[in-house]
Amino acid sequence: MQGQAVPRVPTPRRYLMCPPRFFAVDYAINPWMDPSQPVSAKVALAQWTELRDTYRRLGHTVEEIEPQPGLPDMVFAANSGTVVDGRVLGARFRAPQRAAEAEHFRRWFTEHGYRDLTMPEKINEAEGDFAWTGRVLLAGTGFRTDPAAHAEAQEVLGVPVVSLRLVDPRYYHLDTALFVLTEATDAAPAQVAYYPEAFSPGSQQVLRRLFPDAVVATSADAECFGLNGVSDGRNVVLPLEARRTGLGETLSRCGYEPVYLDVSELRKAGGGPKCCTMEIRK
Ligand code: ARG
Repeated sequence: MQGQAVPRVPTPRRYLMCPPRFFAVDYAINPWMDPSQPVSAKVALAQWTELRDTYRRLGHTVEEIEPQPGLPDMVFAANSGTVVDGRVLGARFRAPQRAAEAEHFRRWFTEHGYRDLTMPEKINEAEGDFAWTGRVLLAGTGFRTDPAAHAEAQEVLGVPVVSLRLVDPRYYHLDTALFVLTEATDAAPAQVAYYPEAFSPGSQQVLRRLFPDAVVATSADAECFGLNGVSDGRNVVLPLEARRTGLGETLSRCGYEPVYLDVSELRKAGGGPKCCTMEIRK
């Protein structure tokens, strides 16, 4: 696979997103957030709109949930639900500032006909820390999601869960350090991209065993939120900076099509493309 371009086939996705109309950095719950630096909700909304329109242009469906005043991080929809095969596992946030987001998303799912919906008992920041590979659910812990939430996710979603330990506070969610490029099929295993140093030595070994063909990212790739990408199996939405770090080029060599977007304003809250994007799998 390495070095040789493989034909990559995109599959249509369904995403849930939340426009950042009340975006702000009023508190700091990760090392990227600095409430003393100026932030523009207008610029954030423009960058977010470009992201949403890019997904639509690529043929994906984007649903929108109404943002709420007083919840400036609600734009990071990935943190509010994990949906596999139409089964929804809601969220329970670690930070009190974000706690109320979970209920807004629960209501959205209920109103949109999702009957199979469970709200977690354990701290669970959803797709921030859970990544579906098509076979197993990779699950991060160390900063946000409680390790006990991994077992809870396995029971609720009925899929095997593989726990991974994050060790660098800058990469506080799994989706800041790893993303799925191609989901596994009967014909081929999943392919992921990740930044090894964000994980404990044991978890690095697990990742090497599970994904010998992974795209291994550098610290520069990780620092610009390049591991917060969104792939449809072919097109990979990445922060603009991933063009110069080499990540985009590496992905091109593997047959993917990088799509670069400016998400600099959203990064002031510690987020990138994936954080803004919850995937609804059926
Ligand atoms: N300010 C948010 C927080 O710290 C950013 C969340 C980013 N989302 C993500 N999926 N990594 O909770």
